[in-house]
Amino acid sequence: MLETNPRVSNIEQATRDVAVPAMKLEAEGEHVIWLNSGDPSKYGFQPPEHAKKAFKEAIDSGLNGYGPSPGLPELREAIITREKKLKKVKLDTSDVLVTTGVSEALQFIVLTLDKHGSEILIPDPSYPPYIATTRLFGGNPKGYKLDENNNWEPDIDDMRKKISLKTRAIAIINPNNPTGAVYKKKTIKDIIDLAGEYGLPIISDEIYDLLVYDGKHVSPATLTKDVPILMLNGASKNYFATGWRMGYIAKIDPENALDEVWDGINRLARLRLCTNTPAQFGFLAAILGSYAYLGRYKKMLNSRRKFTLKRLREIPGLDVVAPRGAFYLFPKYRGPWRSDKEFVLQLLKEEKVLFVHGSGFGKNGKGHFRTVFLPPRSILEETFSRLERFIERHALAKVRA
Ligand SMILES: Cc1ncc(COP(=O)(O)O)c(C=O)c1O
Repeated sequence: MLETNPRVSNIEQATRDVAVPAMKLEAEGEHVIWLNSGDPSKYGFQPPEHAKKAFKEAIDSGLNGYGPSPGLPELREAIITREKKLKKVKLDTSDVLVTTGVSEALQFIVLTLDKHGSEILIPDPSYPPYIATTRLFGGNPKGYKLDENNNWEPDIDDMRKKISLKTRAIAIINPNNPTGAVYKKKTIKDIIDLAGEYGLPIISDEIYDLLVYDGKHVSPATLTKDVPILMLNGASKNYFATGWRMGYIAKIDPENALDEVWDGINRLARLRLCTNTPAQFGFLAAILGSYAYLGRYKKMLNSRRKFTLKRLREIPGLDVVAPRGAFYLFPKYRGPWRSDKEFVLQLLKEEKVLFVHGSGFGKNGKGHFRTVFLPPRSILEETFSRLERFIERHALAKVRA
């Protein structure tokens, strides 16, 4: 048998790894309630009509060829307009690079920043590709604590402790996956100060920046004076177009500290030629068109968020911090299970409900699970009665034992 690169064979993506046993169950004729994936399209959310139309028209009018490696200039201009309007950030076309989702943006950044054994500070818990991508490219993801007792805000003291001579960047995800936290302005300021003190750039994942139900999203790009920011965003969440695979990096670099890094990122972009051309026209239309769809969707999501929170808080043995953005909750459970993975897999086996185990998001996620609140109320109701039944059954069994 041919050997594989251990960096590849060790890759884990918890949100998709748990789907394997669920698919097996479905192949055996069972019906599973899938709450593992942050994909709104699975529950009827769709990109706005004007964006779908622009995507289709691009195909029909023959715009099916390669595009420029950094992205179509008109899309990059649209991104500049968006960021100026929302965050009062001033960007040039050359500061924007269109990518195949935020996933590719992250790969480009991590690979460019890597110098043998470099460390990237990432949140713990974190969206799993931050861990896997950093490791894949030879780096070391160093988790800093998100504090559950403080609404899952980053613990700045812990962040400081994790900085070493090998640290190359600090990554933040705000609004956050998996916790749903939306960070306070003071936290963002403190992170900028810390990054400035150590001369580090901030990787700022803002893919949920329009999905805030409570409070206000603050981007480090609006507050920075000299600290460089690589801001990540895309079509997947705010525009409900996960399958279009559209993302971007916007560089805010007041003192040109990132010139070489940006050159590296652009070299990687040329190596993969370009992103999907017609999808870029769809994304452009989504960015510049009406946001009426978002108002409707946010209303639905907010009522699902409130219902899910209420139901989870009614279940004995669960503790959950109210999410303020995105579409996830990250409850803590108590019970007889040896690991959170065992909890999730046993729930799947017995009740046919699929969550993601908390430790799949990092050490600090242990003893938790992540659920989405995307489905309609009837599915959420069914899910949480099954969960309640499951927890009662096992907690009671332990008391009797
Ligand atoms: C924080 C975060 N970043 C990035 C992504 C993936 O983004 P994309 O679909 O643009 O690759 C996700 C998807 O769930 C996410 O939650």
